[in-house]
Amino acid sequence: MKKPSSRKLIQLMNVLGDNEFHDGTALGETLHLTRSAVWKMMRKLTKYGINIESVKGKGYVLQETVILLDENRIREHLNDIDTRLSVFEAIDSTNEYLKTVKNARGLQFCVAEFQSKGRGRLGRQWVAPFAKNISLSCLLPFHKDISELAGLSLVISLAVLRTLQHFGVKEDVYVKWPNDVLCQNKKISGILIEIQAESHGVSQVIIGVGLNVNILKIDEEKINQPSTSLREVLGQYFDRNLVCAVLINQLQDYIQRFVKQGFQIFIDEWVAAEGMKGKKIALKTVHDTVRGEAAGINDQGHLLLRLPNGEIKAFSSGDTTILKEGQQH
Ligand code: BTN
Repeated sequence: MKKPSSRKLIQLMNVLGDNEFHDGTALGETLHLTRSAVWKMMRKLTKYGINIESVKGKGYVLQETVILLDENRIREHLNDIDTRLSVFEAIDSTNEYLKTVKNARGLQFCVAEFQSKGRGRLGRQWVAPFAKNISLSCLLPFHKDISELAGLSLVISLAVLRTLQHFGVKEDVYVKWPNDVLCQNKKISGILIEIQAESHGVSQVIIGVGLNVNILKIDEEKINQPSTSLREVLGQYFDRNLVCAVLINQLQDYIQRFVKQGFQIFIDEWVAAEGMKGKKIALKTVHDTVRGEAAGINDQGHLLLRLPNGEIKAFSSGDTTILKEGQQH
């Protein structure tokens, strides 16, 4: 399932963006649509969860601020004018979509307003309401041995962290192994990396980033862990077109340097940005949960865990939770 973004829908939301009443006939004239086409778009937006009030004799009014993703507006802020980018109104999952792209010659990005089957790490769901956050994926054709991808997910979390810092998140923000970004100890971004090995020696790496931008506490009931958003942290609504462009610029920069120079050049930066070292943590792997003290990473980007018997063990995958004083799991 995939629906490309609709210019008419973007225009409609731009008109409604003044938060004044607009009647269906006038909207139809402005957008060169019939009244019934306008009504259908309103119904669609309502189904997506957008808060639009309809009052007899007055028309439609938008009850919140919503700026839709607009490829042209994103492109205005991109460093590389040749960036390959697709914008979808709705899709099953941006990661799944990029898996269907064949013979990509360079980085390719896609972003969606809504994912019906958004996926998180360790088989979890990733839920994001329509037009609130950023659900973005990047396809990286990788020509080296897949063992050289070690550390990539940590590098991606640095690109996300820099994006947040660009918008003014300065304090209490850190990366948590392997690739979460937390702010005020709540998750603000998650990353899912998937690798498809191809027969002719090129693998396709799919990098999925979910970034909470405008979601508020009130919308969060479907998200099952403490989380926050740029808007929660900084107290203002963000135009996601700009956030998306900065994220793409950062990803291009970090990925290109990683491909050329490998993980080593990022180790110091990651160590300076991490928020777990010395803390008691639980590491959940597919098999079990291991507890210990976080002791940094090795040069492969694997987590070093000091076990209760003093032994330091490296782990290549899993999910970490920082334990509170006295907490066992
Ligand atoms: C996690 O923390 O569990 C990872 C979440 C990754 C979510 C993103 S949103 C864009 C891309 N498409 C998906 O289906 N998942 C990733």
